[in-house]
Amino acid sequence: MRQVVLDLEESLIRQVANAGMGRSDVLKFWFGESDEVTPAFIREAAARSLSEGETFYAHNLGLSELREAIATYCSALRCEGAAAVGADRIAVTSGGVNALMLAVQAVVDAGDEVVAVTPVWPNLTAQPAIMGAQVRCVSLKPLGGQWRLDMDELLAAVTSRTKLLIVNSPNNPTGWTLSRAEQRILLAHCRKTGTWLLADEVYERLYYEAPAPSRLRPAAPPSGAGQSPGGVENSNDCAPSFLDIAAPDDRLMVAHSFSKSFLMTGWRLGWLVLPAAATTHLGKLIEFNTSCAPVFIQRAGVVALQRTDEVTPQVVAHLKRCRDTLVPLLQALPGVEVSPAPGGMYAFFRLAGHADSFEVAKRLVLEAGLGLAPGNAFSPDLSPAMQGWLRWCFASQDPARLGEGVSRLRGWLGRR
Ligand SMILES: Cc1ncc(COP(=O)(O)O)c(C=O)c1O
Repeated sequence: MRQVVLDLEESLIRQVANAGMGRSDVLKFWFGESDEVTPAFIREAAARSLSEGETFYAHNLGLSELREAIATYCSALRCEGAAAVGADRIAVTSGGVNALMLAVQAVVDAGDEVVAVTPVWPNLTAQPAIMGAQVRCVSLKPLGGQWRLDMDELLAAVTSRTKLLIVNSPNNPTGWTLSRAEQRILLAHCRKTGTWLLADEVYERLYYEAPAPSRLRPAAPPSGAGQSPGGVENSNDCAPSFLDIAAPDDRLMVAHSFSKSFLMTGWRLGWLVLPAAATTHLGKLIEFNTSCAPVFIQRAGVVALQRTDEVTPQVVAHLKRCRDTLVPLLQALPGVEVSPAPGGMYAFFRLAGHADSFEVAKRLVLEAGLGLAPGNAFSPDLSPAMQGWLRWCFASQDPARLGEGVSRLRGWLGRR
């Protein structure tokens, strides 16, 4: 086996979860998913497809109906003046993680230099490492209660030797979200250095700040893209996206997922937006990875996009309520440092006096019945700066569970 594969760390989040698996008394907030089932009309679309016998291979890049629906959906979310996204720029993938891996496979050779903004979901730094790249991390900093990017540090790290820059915004685990101005600087810099930009925007709709004024009127769908799906026109709340400012042929790939905004984590459906000239090549890579996403899953994706107004706004409103329930409760605990995240589905907080995040997360499972993810899981160099941090996924159907979790944490802190 290749050394990089042998060297892959077992996920620290999994290791903590394994300590509490099978224990019904543990409140589990360690993984990034809601405990709410996918809406019935989406499940029914998949069941209908299966009962009609759609059990065959499909086109590598996805069903044309789904690619059109994604293009229309993506275009309707764009700011005024932004280029519409055509279906010729869409590749349907088996989840967001597959979209990310395909993007990395497409541009990264062994020995290449890749820069990633961290802390970040561990897969994003593991994927280029699997390809044999050298991954350099530029760390966000918690300043005045908010996570900030040191732009000078990032620009200095991305040079003409950098093949790929990976940025996840809104960010898992911190919720940090790139501003439009920061996106413009990064895009201009990557154009100068010839660096590909991989933007992980799977949390784009889980954004709790007011929309940018320029987003108040949505872009028209691309010509020939079919009907605009219901709801998107009225739902402008979406984090700033690189697609708002980039040209269609920029060296930009944007990864998306049905998992978070449509409550579809187990379905494994996502997409990649890329320059049209690269799409055919991406299709070849899909052939050698998964061949295609299952047709019945894709049918469910079409219906989810067409009826997004029946899912996503409710998901976002509920998550905001969860965030606004959890964060003040945590802030009231002695020694806890946390602020409301502008996006995503996590509270990322520091416990004063508890240096080893992994140890604390394991003890919380065993001694308090509370399942959280350790902060150092999100930094591949296990950077000391991430020690003492814990991630709490607040996507809980019943916000009372969040209160119960905080009581357990308070009790555990009191016993120490
Ligand atoms: C930042 C980020 N990107 C991508 C994904 C992948 O999501 P999925 O593969 O479920 O579509 C996740 C999942 O948690 C994530 O947190």
